[in-house]
Amino acid sequence: MQSSNSQSISQRLKAMADSDRHSRNAATKEDTVAKAPLSVDYQQLSQQLSGLINGEKDRVANLANCSALLWQELGNINWVGFYLLKRNKLVLGPFQGKPACSRIELGAGVCGTAAQMLKTIIVADVHQFPGHIACDLASKSEIVLPIINEGKLVGLLDIDSPETDRFDHHDQQGLELIIQTLLPHI
Ligand code: SME
Repeated sequence: MQSSNSQSISQRLKAMADSDRHSRNAATKEDTVAKAPLSVDYQQLSQQLSGLINGEKDRVANLANCSALLWQELGNINWVGFYLLKRNKLVLGPFQGKPACSRIELGAGVCGTAAQMLKTIIVADVHQFPGHIACDLASKSEIVLPIINEGKLVGLLDIDSPETDRFDHHDQQGLELIIQTLLPHI
């Protein structure tokens, strides 16, 4: 029997699935680039995320739903997901997009650099970033945001785009809000 919480989440998921936006963005194997509009209301996205993860304590479930929501709602991206810090390495977590490298050393690539610096990195052209790790050859720009709890690195949110210079400070601020919404639930 489903709990009232899981019922309400199913209802919310169904409402989202029924929406026009979802139908437009439904990803298939042939459609690996999310097609939502570029200008996104991150406040609204944060509220949608709260609706999906409030009441659920499982970290993987909440990271998985967050990556699926971002994949559905952000335009012109080809990969979105999480790396989690485990035994001083970044280990692949829930994501949407093509298969990616399972482990990244601290200091390696954009992810390892953001992890080491504890800072968000926006890369306008990944080919100009020394040591960039190419998981999907279609990726041209990238944003990586550290997830920090009480001063300690928990993991990273990584998003790739097939378009050069896709991410700006509006995305950075909005995605930092998404991370703050997610943090108590992972
Ligand atoms: N490009 C990243 C590797 C992860 S994939 O993009 C999913 C990097 O340079 O660290």
